[in-house]
Amino acid sequence: MNQILLQAYKDGAGASLSGAESLPLAVYSDRDVFNQEALSVFMNDWIFICAEAKLSQVGNYFAITIAGEPVAVVHGRDGQLRALSNVCRHRGTPLLDEGFGSLSKHIVCPYHAWTFDDTGEFVGAPLTGAIKPDKEKHCLPVFSVECWNGLVFINLSQEPEPLSRRLTGLDDYLGWFGLSRFKEAYHMPAEHWQANWKLAVENGIESYHLFKVHKETLEPMTPSKQAYYVADSAEWTLTGGLMKDDRSTLAKWFSGKHPDAYNHYLLIFLPPSFIGILTYDGLHWIQVLPVDAEHCTVIAGGLSEHKVCSFEGAEFDFTRAFLAEDKVICERVQRATRARIGRGGKLVELEQILVDFRHYLGSRLFGSQPEDFRETKEAERFIRQE
Ligand code: FES
Ligand SMILES: [Fe+2]
Repeated sequence: MNQILLQAYKDGAGASLSGAESLPLAVYSDRDVFNQEALSVFMNDWIFICAEAKLSQVGNYFAITIAGEPVAVVHGRDGQLRALSNVCRHRGTPLLDEGFGSLSKHIVCPYHAWTFDDTGEFVGAPLTGAIKPDKEKHCLPVFSVECWNGLVFINLSQEPEPLSRRLTGLDDYLGWFGLSRFKEAYHMPAEHWQANWKLAVENGIESYHLFKVHKETLEPMTPSKQAYYVADSAEWTLTGGLMKDDRSTLAKWFSGKHPDAYNHYLLIFLPPSFIGILTYDGLHWIQVLPVDAEHCTVIAGGLSEHKVCSFEGAEFDFTRAFLAEDKVICERVQRATRARIGRGGKLVELEQILVDFRHYLGSRLFGSQPEDFRETKEAERFIRQE
C-alpha cells in the first residue's frame, strides 16, 4: 500500500474550498486506492441500482456489477424486491446476464445448472453423484434493498443504517416537483468509459465545465453562470440553476400553480454513484459504477410522466451527445493520471461540490469528520410552503 499517496489523498479530501486543490492524480489510477474505495465506499453504503418501475412485475430483475461484485435485484413471487449475490455457489459463475430480464421460475447457472429460487435459496444441482451439497450452505447471499421516490438502492454491508436516515432532510427541498407523478422509467444502455469512477462523478456534479465542454448541448439550457448552491450535508448535496425555458407563461399557468421553482433545476448528488437532475418534467440521472482503477460504467436513465417507447427520439440524441462530450473529456483526464511530475492546482468556487464529494470520501475512507449541514439563500425557493 502506497502510504504517501494515501496520506496525500486524506489531506486533499479534508480541505475546505479555500484550500482545496486537485487531488493527487494517482488516486485516479492507483489499484490500492481503488481496492480501498471498493471496500469502504461501495461495499459499505447505499448504491443506486435502477428505477423501481422497471421491476414492477413478478420475475423482473436487474443484474449489475458494483466494483467487481455481481448482484441482482429480483422481484420475487412473494411480491418482495430482493438484492441477491449474482455469483453461483458452485464455482462462482455469474448467474444472470447483466441488465434487465425476467425469470421464468428459478435462477439456473449457465455452467452446470445449479439452481436457486427467487429468494436465493439453493434448490438443487444435477449429476452430483455421491456428493450431496448442503442446501443451507449453498444459498445466495441476500443484501439490504430499499426504495426512495421510485428509485431502488441496495447496501452490501451487514445491517446498514436505514436509507431514510442516510437521506435525512433531502425530501424537504423536493416537494414542488411532485416526484410521485413520475411513474414511467427509462434506462439507456450501459456505457464503458476508460476513466476512474471519481473522474466521471466529479465531472457529472460540477457545472463549471458546461460552458466549455457542452457549449452547444447543455450550456444553452443550463448555463454555468446561472448555477448555484442550495444545501449540503455529509451525505448528499443539492445544487441548482435557472433553466432557459421555452414553455410560454400561459402553458405554465395551465400546468397549475407555477412557483418560481419550476424555472429551475435541482441537481441531486447522492454519493457515491447517483447524480440526478430534477425538473418539473422529470428526474433524469446518470449512475457511475467502478469497474477497476481506470474504468467505469455509466448508465443514464430517468423517470417522467410519459412513457418512453424507444431511444430514437431527439431527447436521447441530446443525452447521447452530452454524454459523448463528457466521456471524451474524462478519458482525456485519465490519460494524465500516471504523470509523475505534472499535477493539478486550485479548485474554484463553482467546484464547491467537489469539496463536498471529497468530504464524503474522507469520512468513508479515513473516518474524517465531515463538515456540518449548510444551506444557502437559494434554498428558500425550494422549501415547500403550504
Ligand atoms: S459454476 Fe454454477 S453450476 Fe457450476
Ligand atoms: Fe458534463
